[in-house]
Amino acid sequence: MTDITLISGSTLGSAEYVAEHLAEKLDEAGFSTQTLHGPQFEELETSGIWLIVSSTHGAGDLPDNLQPLFDTINEQRPDLSAVHYGAVGIGSREYDTFCGAIEKLDTLLTECGAKRVGSLLKVNILDHDIPEDPAEIWVGSWKNLLQDL
Ligand SMILES: Cc1cc2nc3c(=O)[nH]c(=O)nc-3n(C[C@H](O)[C@H](O)[C@H](O)COP(=O)(O)O)c2cc1C
Repeated sequence: MTDITLISGSTLGSAEYVAEHLAEKLDEAGFSTQTLHGPQFEELETSGIWLIVSSTHGAGDLPDNLQPLFDTINEQRPDLSAVHYGAVGIGSREYDTFCGAIEKLDTLLTECGAKRVGSLLKVNILDHDIPEDPAEIWVGSWKNLLQDL
């Protein structure tokens, strides 16, 4: 069945745990997954399905472990037209730049031709002590959209 590469960007682990939880749910649903925390661009297949889970730091900035991937894609502008992706942001509404990192990633991937599947989920940690919960509900619908690809 479909291979899904989960890509997490995290500083203290929240987004990383969410990515691992979603991988578990997708595995249970019969997908095969691999989860990469802060991968380099060279580690990624430029085709297939990516599921990106990223928190936001600084003022709308990417976590340090995902910044190199962003920078490489931004500089090289690879053809990502064979990539479909899902996007999950973890952030806090107390910042004006709520979930700024996933928005930047979403914009960049689209500019490189990748196609987003489903809505961009933004989890506000002020509403959700356990960000895995809304992410799990979201992935329940998201996985069904993959059947139409
Ligand atoms: C110094 C600092 C800056 C932050 N800046 C933002 C921000 O600009 N936008 C946002 O939505 N959340 C921001 N957050 C909230 C984090 O994204 C949130 O705490 C998240 O759960 C961290 O997840 P992580 O452990 O995976 O990095 C910030 C948190 C800290 C500590």
